[in-house]
Amino acid sequence: MGKSSGKKAPVIDIGISEKDRAAIAQGLSKLLADTYTLYLTTHNFHWNVTGPMFNTLHTMFMVQYTELWNAVDPIAERIRSLGHVAPGSYAQFSRLTSLKDAPETRPAALEMVAILVQGHEAVARTARSIFPAVQKADDEPTADLLTQRLTVHEQSAWMLRSLLEE
Ligand SMILES: [Fe+2]
Repeated sequence: MGKSSGKKAPVIDIGISEKDRAAIAQGLSKLLADTYTLYLTTHNFHWNVTGPMFNTLHTMFMVQYTELWNAVDPIAERIRSLGHVAPGSYAQFSRLTSLKDAPETRPAALEMVAILVQGHEAVARTARSIFPAVQKADDEPTADLLTQRLTVHEQSAWMLRSLLEE
């Protein structure tokens, strides 16, 4: 047996500097934590919603949590492609996220909708904040991913917000 069991990591040379890869991965880690937190809150509300809008909201929340669940994988795998470790624990997510955890007492149906509007808006702000680092590094794959996430979060915020308007 050799003295060292660890293999040396190969140098990553994809045309983005180590510093830029670290900055983008840090931003994507926040986006991953936000997305996971919003996923969990949306699924929680799918389970617990009550009232005359039950059918509409139960179904709408299912569509949204499914989309969010599917979104965490490409975000995490982009972090890996940039040479960094993807966060994946509740402790890490709670440190990294800009969203509040779901309330422990069940909100009324429209209060759930308002919480999700704020959540989608917060994730959109996080995604948007990563663009300067991404553009500086000409990181087109991350720019493409962020553009897709912004489209979804802004559209979801609009649809949910519409339920709160006359
Ligand atoms: Fe269900």
